[in-house]
Amino acid sequence: MAGWHVRDFSPDDLEAIVRLDAEGASADPSGVFRLSDVVAALQGRHPTVVAVADGRLVGAAVGRVEGDRAWILRISLHPSWRNLGMGSAMLAALERRLQAAGATTMAAVLPEGETGSAALHHSGFRPHPGLTYFEKAEAVTAQDSAVLLSLGGVVPPTGLWEKLAGMAEEKGLIERRLVLPLAHPEMAAEHGVEPPQAVVLFGPPGTGKSTFAKAVASRLGWPFVELFPSRLALEDGLATGLSRRFDQVAQLEHVLVFIDEVEEVASVRSESDPVSVGVVNELLKSIVRFRDRDGRLLICATNNVATLDPAFLRHGRFDYVLPVGPPDSEARGALWDSYLARAGAEADTAVLAEASEGFTPADIAQAARTVAQSVFERTLASGHRAHPATGDYLQTIRRTRPTVTTEMALEFADQTSRYGRT
Ligand SMILES: Nc1ncnc2c1ncn2[C@@H]1O[C@H](COP(=O)(O)OP(=O)(O)OP(=O)(O)O)[C@@H](O)[C@H]1O
Ligand SMILES: [Mg+2]
Repeated sequence: MAGWHVRDFSPDDLEAIVRLDAEGASADPSGVFRLSDVVAALQGRHPTVVAVADGRLVGAAVGRVEGDRAWILRISLHPSWRNLGMGSAMLAALERRLQAAGATTMAAVLPEGETGSAALHHSGFRPHPGLTYFEKAEAVTAQDSAVLLSLGGVVPPTGLWEKLAGMAEEKGLIERRLVLPLAHPEMAAEHGVEPPQAVVLFGPPGTGKSTFAKAVASRLGWPFVELFPSRLALEDGLATGLSRRFDQVAQLEHVLVFIDEVEEVASVRSESDPVSVGVVNELLKSIVRFRDRDGRLLICATNNVATLDPAFLRHGRFDYVLPVGPPDSEARGALWDSYLARAGAEADTAVLAEASEGFTPADIAQAARTVAQSVFERTLASGHRAHPATGDYLQTIRRTRPTVTTEMALEFADQTSRYGRT
């Protein structure tokens, strides 16, 4: 059959190539490479050839070169022009151009048995048996990224949740109340469970409230945005700053917003201080707006839940008010275990757990770090691998002042019964 030829892509072809995709002529319905990838490659002038028949664009082979490797993003061919050798002709032409652009390996991903695979076979491409294509879509779109950047937010690395040691009670509670309903909204809805939208974490310093918040974002794969009241105050005032940030946050599909030391913003409103009244009111309004949409979580943390404005803690604003307490003996043991294993220590966990009463996870982390450093130095000085022993830890524990005094522990227990909503 006469009347067709293969030539280089010219920018005027872009629309016709996109139309081919829409007509289902693409040989990659698996969607590994999306149309946006194809358009980006075309706009970036990566090697591409097209087939023209009767003056009409009926096929395209789109490549993308990355160093010495090239991807074939698309082999599209209009259905009425199949089995005429056009696919192979385009592929041969594309291959030459990819080579000229520096590629020594060329790869394509196709669903099994797809039309384009015949052309690839004819051109000497061989399938890699036993390969599985893995994919993970980030919860953040490009547009989200821009908003996130301007908010100083991050997408936390995966695995933070798994790294949380000990604290089994808090971890279990946070997992059941927060993580599971947010991770499985459909199943939650089936049970009439409304996923939480805002919660307060309270507890003494260093118990891991901030760490938990970030770990929840990591577990959900959501971006994490921390709002710093002290910095917002430097803008056009705290109330304006808060409202502006919450407006920006509203543009994100999913997000975990964290406000640490929330008592700075939401302490009891005093009649004599109209500024504080304005700020608390603004935050309350922002929370109401924040609760308008699903898929988002606000976590506020405080060391002193008793100073919070009562209106702030009311039902309907916060779904839960969760205590994050100092670790009990068992939790301390689990925290020690995680550090002992890492340091190659030969030490008695139970003894350390007992000796570190009043220690927070932060205290234990600090003590473990001190011992690890001194044993490392001992190894280097002696030339023999030293291993930390129970005595090394006990010595450091004795030199550390526990963060949580008996009074604080009692106060926390009292606050848990008065303010806790679990
Ligand atoms: N469960 C845990 N496992 C391991 N390390 C932890 C854990 N919880 C906290 N840490 C460590 O303890 C330190 C203090 O934790 P974090 O800052 O989260 O406490 P916090 O409750 O937010 O304290 P603050 O009230 O002072 O803000 C961090 O360095 C963190 O890495
Ligand atoms: Mg904190």
